[in-house]
Amino acid sequence: MRVDIISIFPEYFAPLDVSLVGKARERGILEIRLHQLRDWTRDVHKTVDDTPYGGGPGMVMKPEIWGEAIDAVIAQAGPAASPRMIVPTPSGRPFTQETAIEFAEEPWLLFTPARYEGIDSRVAAEYGSRLRVDEVSIGDYVLAGGEAAVLVIVEAVGRLLPGVLGNARSVADDSFAPGPMANLLEGPVYTKPPVWRGREVPEILLSGHHGKIARWRRDQALRRTLEKRPELVARLDPAGLDKDDRKI
Ligand code: ADE
Repeated sequence: MRVDIISIFPEYFAPLDVSLVGKARERGILEIRLHQLRDWTRDVHKTVDDTPYGGGPGMVMKPEIWGEAIDAVIAQAGPAASPRMIVPTPSGRPFTQETAIEFAEEPWLLFTPARYEGIDSRVAAEYGSRLRVDEVSIGDYVLAGGEAAVLVIVEAVGRLLPGVLGNARSVADDSFAPGPMANLLEGPVYTKPPVWRGREVPEILLSGHHGKIARWRRDQALRRTLEKRPELVARLDPAGLDKDDRKI
């Protein structure tokens, strides 16, 4: 997968050199290109923002600069290919595991994280007529800019790319993953030693009885979801629930 990120803070993305995403880059599974938005400004101050039409607080990012930057990045691949453009904004649709799976299937993503009050709305409209453009929010809170949201999205998408995670099963077991765990939070996990500070690992996990362990894990996931995210329980597919699920 190729990922382009245009930002006034390319240095914000240093964490993408590290850990899982860093390794995926080293192995050529993920190619990330960072671009400084100010490189497309023409004035000495390298201005990227201006006051909002209609008044109000803050500044809005100028459409011409973004337009030139996006055109230049898109042109790098020639006319045959075009990226899916992702605009992080608190007013976008929620970014979920489902969205991550959808993005992980794309060969090329272009992120346009904004600072200030956001990018002039004509930019999303303009590229929406040429590319697939998704305005996405990573949660109901306001960040100082979209850069942190891009880090979140790239990590969630990157770990889904084939060959990135050592154990493909861990993706299937994720909280929110489609399949048996859809809309369920993962239950508690344990490793050695069997007793730590007087606290024992649940006996069932040491039993070697795979069927009972699977049942126990599912019970734990259902209980945890009921307690912490009751609204998710309402979204469970009734056809996917068995008689033991219903007891919980
Ligand atoms: N930019 C500022 N806040 C954001 C959020 N919650 N999600 C995505 N982008 C943002």
